[in-house]
Amino acid sequence: MSTNQKFYVSTPIYYVNDQPHIGHAYTTIAADILARYYKLTLGENNVFFLTGTDEHGSKIANAAAKNNKELQQFVDEVSNVYKELWQSLNIKYNYFIRTTDKNHISAVKKFLEVLKQAKTAKGNGAIYEGIYQGLYCASCETFKKESDLINGLCPDHKVKPESLKEKNWFFKLSDYTELLKDLIENNTLSIVPETKKNEMLGFLNQGLEDIAISRPNVKWGIPVPFDQEQTVYVWVDALINYLTATGYNSEKNNFQKWWPADLHLMGKDILKFHSIIWPALLLAAGIPIPKKIFAHGYFTVDGQKMSKTIGNVINPREAAQKYGVDPLRYFLFAEIPFGEDGDFSYKRLDERYNSDLVNGLGNLVSRILTLAGKKYNNKVPTHSKNNFDKSIQLNKQTWENYHRLIQELKFHKVLENIWSWIKCCDEYIDKEKPWEHSKPDVMYDLLESIRHIAWMLLPFIPETSKKILEQLFTDENQRKQEYDKSFKQIAIWGGLAPGTLFEKKGILFPRISDL
Ligand code: MSP
Repeated sequence: MSTNQKFYVSTPIYYVNDQPHIGHAYTTIAADILARYYKLTLGENNVFFLTGTDEHGSKIANAAAKNNKELQQFVDEVSNVYKELWQSLNIKYNYFIRTTDKNHISAVKKFLEVLKQAKTAKGNGAIYEGIYQGLYCASCETFKKESDLINGLCPDHKVKPESLKEKNWFFKLSDYTELLKDLIENNTLSIVPETKKNEMLGFLNQGLEDIAISRPNVKWGIPVPFDQEQTVYVWVDALINYLTATGYNSEKNNFQKWWPADLHLMGKDILKFHSIIWPALLLAAGIPIPKKIFAHGYFTVDGQKMSKTIGNVINPREAAQKYGVDPLRYFLFAEIPFGEDGDFSYKRLDERYNSDLVNGLGNLVSRILTLAGKKYNNKVPTHSKNNFDKSIQLNKQTWENYHRLIQELKFHKVLENIWSWIKCCDEYIDKEKPWEHSKPDVMYDLLESIRHIAWMLLPFIPETSKKILEQLFTDENQRKQEYDKSFKQIAIWGGLAPGTLFEKKGILFPRISDL
């Protein structure tokens, strides 16, 4: 179990230049799974789940112009699309931040003022004025070197970067190479998976260069408080969101409670910003660094890069409309080991929907509730404790694995672990044939098993979990008693009281042909 008493998890804040797609949904659902899990283990009030939108910079300004929209209206609209999408995917964040929010703008200004006064780890001024001459890719909002390009193009966006020569404020990142190496090596700043940690250490071994943290010709941004000619570089503006949301610049003392972040979640594309630039900025400003950074992989679609040009961008809303929100949430985390690259295909979603959800979970719950309902008149039978010791042992192990794996973010393993229990239950029914003779112990074990399964599934597929518990506890008072239990109490074998009223109501997952 985590020794932390609080858990603060963030997603990247997404650019509002375009509509959200399945990649954005992937990271946000992962954060939702963790937030729901930690809310159950640490209590609702001890978890802070942050997401939001990144709204400044030339990339956004260009997109608004392309759409013939006034800037503020454009960012309001796209930001709202994100909010609505998260609601439709049953994502329960605690705070949705927008970089155009007033309190964020003042937090960024405060941070810049602090940097202006600060000294680096080596005693130099943390920021200084200079001239940047080089390349810039507006699509990734990143300063590029010739060596980053392939055939003269940005490898991610396939566009020719602009050539810039401009006055900027620079941050003395080069003074942090050794310190960051130590912090990452000894896991004070934990970077997961291990392969990504090694990539970042390899990068540090080449030595860091100073970076520009302001832009003179980008009007759509936060003014540098001590230089009205400049706006804050959009990545610095964006990273500070993690501070703003926890009250860095507010009177309330939330900041002490939540900071430092326990986990910044993101795709591998933006790991360098989070594991190098972000901690160095914090160190310079005298603020504790985040505890852990997790970079997951990227997906392709049917084996190809997801792109507008190819026309294979998956809209999460459409996938959820066809299969249901929970099947989509389940599929994304059962199919792709979290941390690795993976492939999204409707064919695989279809297969998993049928095998794991319709024929696996859905069928098991329906089978048990139907059989037990007929035999015991919709009342949980009394058990004689014959099997009890064995079940307790098995159950204890399953919960131990569950906690360990979910805290290690091995989501596909957590699900495999639950599904092997589902399989065990199916085999148990086939072996014991509880419809032939009265076998209250067997029935009890099965009903109690689906109670545990429903709770374990809650962070992943919350609606389905609720539907199972509502069938298992049809009496309102009995259901309330179950919901009032702590996660620890829930996991104790035997928690389903004999006499509890249950009833099979509907099916969890309709067959695809019926959708
Ligand atoms: N605005 C910056 C982040 C600033 S955070 C301080 C940004 N935004 S983004 O809209 O481009 O979102 C990038 C993130 O979206 C990735 O890190 C990842 O979380 C998610 N994904 C986008 N495409 C993805 C895939 N194809 N596959 C998996 N996740 C992807 O970068």
